[in-house]
Amino acid sequence: MRSVAVTAFGGAENLAVREVPDPVPGPHQVLVEVTASTVNAIDVSARAGLLVEAGLMTPALPVGPGWDVAGVVRALGTRVGDLQVGARVIGLCDLLAGAGAHAELVVLDRSAVASAPATWTAEQAATLPLNGLTAVGALDATGLHIGDTLLVTGAAGGVGGYVLELARDRGIATVAAVRSRHAGRARARGAGIVVATDELTEHTLAQEVRARVPGGVDAVVDAARAGIAAHDALRSRGVFVALVRPFAPPPVRGTTVIVHEVAADGRRLAGLARLADTGRLTTDVAEILPLDEVRRAHRLVEAGGLDGRVVIRP
Ligand SMILES: NC(=O)c1ccc[n+]([C@@H]2O[C@H](COP(=O)([O-])OP(=O)(O)OC[C@H]3O[C@@H](n4cnc5c(N)ncnc54)[C@H](OP(=O)(O)O)[C@@H]3O)[C@@H](O)[C@H]2O)c1
Repeated sequence: MRSVAVTAFGGAENLAVREVPDPVPGPHQVLVEVTASTVNAIDVSARAGLLVEAGLMTPALPVGPGWDVAGVVRALGTRVGDLQVGARVIGLCDLLAGAGAHAELVVLDRSAVASAPATWTAEQAATLPLNGLTAVGALDATGLHIGDTLLVTGAAGGVGGYVLELARDRGIATVAAVRSRHAGRARARGAGIVVATDELTEHTLAQEVRARVPGGVDAVVDAARAGIAAHDALRSRGVFVALVRPFAPPPVRGTTVIVHEVAADGRRLAGLARLADTGRLTTDVAEILPLDEVRRAHRLVEAGGLDGRVVIRP
């Protein structure tokens, strides 16, 4: 099968499509023919060597990028009895080392797989696992309830958009920090208040939020890595959820700072797929590219400013 490999840490030119042996599922695993796989920020960070520098990944090469899978089950491990060959599934490869999802075939643990949303295309479905699971985990980590107020930075992005929609579903009021051109997207996904961050210096983000939410918000999910600039919008004893460890500010004024890290969880993923099928979660796909254009896909994600996700279709 054909699969993408990072052959050296650095720029996108270090991505290569190689022929490798087909993977074989273990007893508790499934073999999935990949229909679509999203390129996420973590893939870019892994390829650039930033995760090795941060001590989060071993420097062993080659490594296969890609976490998100949407595809069709082609074979089942001997201990998997609750899935059918031919089923449309989604899943998460959450190991930084080894073979990734930008490949024609991938082996996933059964526990990392769920049925794909019936009403979404494979490309749409491929945007759900990493960012959907991160969003629901981050929102749970805030401990917020109906009527509380949440600031979401990077609210027009993959994680941030799902956080807005999940919060709306739970009756949590949201303040979205986005670039002004994304204000409409954020409102459509449930933001009650929109703060345009491109018109703000780091020091005024908190001021703008506090002008609208006196005393500050109850929690922050920081998908734009604003760090302390977003933390200052938090009320005393509020909860700050960082998604990238180096951008987690220290707790002050009795706040709690949590670094949330995603984990593959097929049951939670099934719940997200149900929300997608009832229209309570939505997604945007900006570009669909073949495996051979994986370098271009990485460059697009790296440049930012996209109106949706970049999806590889092997
Ligand atoms: N901990 C985990 O398990 C986990 C899992 C998934 C993702 N993450 C991390 O979470 C973060 C969000 O991921 P994502 O996939 O949602 O990324 P994304 O789709 O690129 O979204 C990030 C959003 O933040 C905006 N943004 C970034 N810097 C900004 C700034 N200075 N001012 C205004 N807006 C800014 C971006 O706008 P532009 O595109 O216009 O720049 C984009 O809309 C990434 O850093 C990712 O690595 C962590």
